[in-house]
Amino acid sequence: MFSWTRPTRRRLRTLSVTGVATAVAALTLSLLPSFAQAAETTLGAAAAQSGRYFGAAVAGQKLGDSAYTTILNREFNSVTPENEMKIDATEPQQNNFTFGSADRIVNHALSRGWQVRGHTLAWHSQQPPWMQSMSGSALRQAMLNHVTRVAAYYRGKVVAWDVVNEAFADGPSGARRDSNLQRTGNDWIEAAFRAADAADPGAKLCYNDYNTDDWTHAKTQAVYNMVRDFKQRGVPIDCVGFQSHFNANSPYPSNYRTTLSSFAALGVDVQITELDIEGSGSTQANTYRNVINDCLAVARCNGVTTWGVRDCDSWRSGGTPLLFECNGNKKPAYTATLEALNSATPTPTP
Ligand code: G3I
Repeated sequence: MFSWTRPTRRRLRTLSVTGVATAVAALTLSLLPSFAQAAETTLGAAAAQSGRYFGAAVAGQKLGDSAYTTILNREFNSVTPENEMKIDATEPQQNNFTFGSADRIVNHALSRGWQVRGHTLAWHSQQPPWMQSMSGSALRQAMLNHVTRVAAYYRGKVVAWDVVNEAFADGPSGARRDSNLQRTGNDWIEAAFRAADAADPGAKLCYNDYNTDDWTHAKTQAVYNMVRDFKQRGVPIDCVGFQSHFNANSPYPSNYRTTLSSFAALGVDVQITELDIEGSGSTQANTYRNVINDCLAVARCNGVTTWGVRDCDSWRSGGTPLLFECNGNKKPAYTATLEALNSATPTPTP
């Protein structure tokens, strides 16, 4: 027969400790499945847990390829038109603006609630022939007109613009890249930012470049000094894009996190804008993991874009630098990226 005896004080303490331990164990067990459930199964959802986006460069003509859009629609929540917003695409003849190709991508994104990164308003490359042959104040005015018209057209639709792209030289000089735009005067970059700000005050305005990942490189330091100067003088700049095309000649640097955090400390957002990492298997996967973890470690690193969807969509397809095989299969680099995103500290919901 069951007989209840009054517990002694000692037994009471033991019971209460046991009770707390049991309660903690029960709580832990009840939380564990919900943590496991919180592990998101797509890149966009996993990035969103910490308030970040995960994007892809999109080629407009591929939106008709269902294998491509199946992956795009499932995994990503931000797009950057790969070529469709460049100067040759949007102003093929002077003052004749064509937005159809870019609009197709923008509409695809906005109808799904995604973000759009605009790429790019002022660049020495992919200029239409009429602009290539211009110089001096006529070119300066044409460039500012282009920035104004395109940024105004997409006002309210583009979250962040690469206002100026690739304006610094490679190598040890730390100098500006020579170009027809640079020859209009050293202030062409800030003039472009002021025009973009006037045309779309709500968009984040970014400077975007490559080979600016290694903190010790002269090009990185030169861009850093420009951004610091802009912030000090009130030139409207909100963000810096790190293209981050990594391969054997331009490897992922161990000080990448220092680079991101140093720029962020200037008071700008940092974004990884064109990520691709040549290679395969676990080596490639580990580099993707490191890059994502570096971004997650910097509060103002608010998003990552891969430069394409599948390996065969890449401008460097031979280097198999992306997260999906051509047949759509997820690569080890995909799994590493997803795991890293899922390990981020969640942004508290109010
Ligand atoms: O669409 C035409 C096609 O009709 C024609 O038959 C074919 C012949 O060459 O060219 C096609 O256009 C090509 C276009 O990509 C679309 O595939 C251009 O020649 C080619 O120059 C263009 O390359 C783009 C490159 O920028 C141009 O600078 C790449 O797709 C694009 O991925 C690349 O993106 C750049 C970023 O904007 C800036 N950072 C570096 C990054 C990689 O180079």
